[in-house]
Amino acid sequence: MGIYRQYLLPHLLDRTCAMKTSTRQRQRVVPRARGAVLEVGFGTGLNLPWYAADSVERLWALEPSDENYALSAARRRPVVFPIEHLRCGAEQIPLENASMDSVVVTFSLCTIPDTQRALSEMRRVLRPGGALLYCEHGRAPDPRLRRWQRRLTPLWKRVAGGCHLDRDIPGLIASAGFHLEKADGRFLPGWRPANYHYWGTAR
Ligand SMILES: C[S@@+](CC[C@H](N)C(=O)[O-])C[C@H]1O[C@@H](n2cnc3c(N)ncnc32)[C@H](O)[C@@H]1O
Repeated sequence: MGIYRQYLLPHLLDRTCAMKTSTRQRQRVVPRARGAVLEVGFGTGLNLPWYAADSVERLWALEPSDENYALSAARRRPVVFPIEHLRCGAEQIPLENASMDSVVVTFSLCTIPDTQRALSEMRRVLRPGGALLYCEHGRAPDPRLRRWQRRLTPLWKRVAGGCHLDRDIPGLIASAGFHLEKADGRFLPGWRPANYHYWGTAR
């Protein structure tokens, strides 16, 4: 792993993912998590302040990067519910079938290499009636910007740790067999190729 990916990128992600727009999106979805919770692509723990502490029994923090997880230490300290680190990719989740009440995924479906496998794993570990809570950025509605997102993605992926600008987030979730119960999408302030946001609940 290069110096950029190992030492610089985790700090860069921590900064960029903490921007106001993303924080507002986290606040919309994370407080809805209940019971046994799996967070996929836990990163540097930026969602931790937004969990309803009295509703979460235990959090499984799935994060393949040790460097990212290490940066969450200060955010983990005040948390009252137990947190267990799953050091792996979401394409193979080491949890029992139907064992989670909620799965949270924020700004990670853009990065996970095999989203179809990862989403079908999320579906496998969710209890019947459990909720997939998500907020992501992805494919914009207008064709001109979509073309730019497609053109920019190969370069962007290299600097942003594998992030794709042009993923059809609701389409990916639905094609993994989820029913989109609440689904919002809109431009939020910021750099337009990365600022069409999707958020909601799927079951
Ligand atoms: C842009 S960061 C977002 C981090 C965090 N979810 C947030 O909202 O701040 C994307 C995260 O996905 C993680 N990731 C990369 N490949 C993954 C995989 N196969 N499965 C799960 N997470 C992965 C990265 O290590 C990184 O922490």
